[in-house]
Amino acid sequence: MHCSGYDEGERALLSRYWFPVARSVDLGEKPLGVTLLDRSLVLWRAGCSIQAVDDRCCHRGVSFRCGWVEGDELVCAYHGWRFDLQGRCVAVPAHPELCPPASLRLGTHPCIERYGLLWTSLGDPPEDSLPSFPEASDTAFTCLALDPTPFEASAGRQLEGFLDVAHFAWIHHQSFAARDRPEVPDYVVEVLADGLRYDYRSTVPNTTPDQQLSVPQGFLWSRRFEVMLPYTARLTVTFPGGGRLCLLNASQPIGPRSCRSFTLLARDFDHDLEEEQVLAFNRQIFAEDKAILDRHDPPFLPLDPGAERHVPSDRASIAYRQCLRAMGLERA
Ligand code: FES
Ligand SMILES: [Fe+2]
Repeated sequence: MHCSGYDEGERALLSRYWFPVARSVDLGEKPLGVTLLDRSLVLWRAGCSIQAVDDRCCHRGVSFRCGWVEGDELVCAYHGWRFDLQGRCVAVPAHPELCPPASLRLGTHPCIERYGLLWTSLGDPPEDSLPSFPEASDTAFTCLALDPTPFEASAGRQLEGFLDVAHFAWIHHQSFAARDRPEVPDYVVEVLADGLRYDYRSTVPNTTPDQQLSVPQGFLWSRRFEVMLPYTARLTVTFPGGGRLCLLNASQPIGPRSCRSFTLLARDFDHDLEEEQVLAFNRQIFAEDKAILDRHDPPFLPLDPGAERHVPSDRASIAYRQCLRAMGLERA
């Protein structure tokens, strides 16, 4: 029976990956507390470099969320101990003459700033294993970021919801789909070395109801889904006229019962669209997802194939669960 937190085996498996934990704009001059895989971390900036450390002072276990940054040093609020960029204690103010021993140090974690997001890991994954989203720096694309959405469901549940094509008609009937068109045409899921890929073609549009008037009758919308295990996916939607909308959905596994999704939107057409209009449409979609995602029992994906029932339109979810299980996880 699983307890409410991750066990050591799960944490070790998930420590091989990068996860987003904040947007760059969220980290100002103060240390920023985040949670990854049940571990409390604090991010702090020193010049151009960003550090991620365990949010627990090695003196009396106090959180750095009430501390501050001075120059290139993180200062603990309780007794003023100071730590450098490598997590080493460099000053104990009660003993100005003391040269702190090397054992006085914080647990540090790698941190990368990419696509306007801050990514970290509890392990030491190679930098090139970070999920790819080249559109973020491609001048042909206009790129926007949604505010992170918190879910009372695991990152596995959230990502599976992003991949699920059968729910459009039901929970997104007010934003872009319709309840009188619930059929799911067949699609083929390709299993890759580090994820999945599939193309889904249907009449379900990707526009607000008022914009749907200008879509040619019978137009087939193509959605390419690309999963980057364990909790990131890209979705590329092709619009009438050939324009592409690329979404990156990367989930931050906070615990087995909670996550946050980070979403980037990049499009190579309609560059003059009002930013607020695009964000509002996508916020509505995520709010519709949240209303359902927060109500799963259990709140995590059970990876035993017999734990929940499946039909052919679930083939992406089935393949996703199989990949997670092949990683060695029993839930995600
Ligand atoms: S608890 Fe941090 S300096 Fe004492
Ligand atoms: Fe959805």
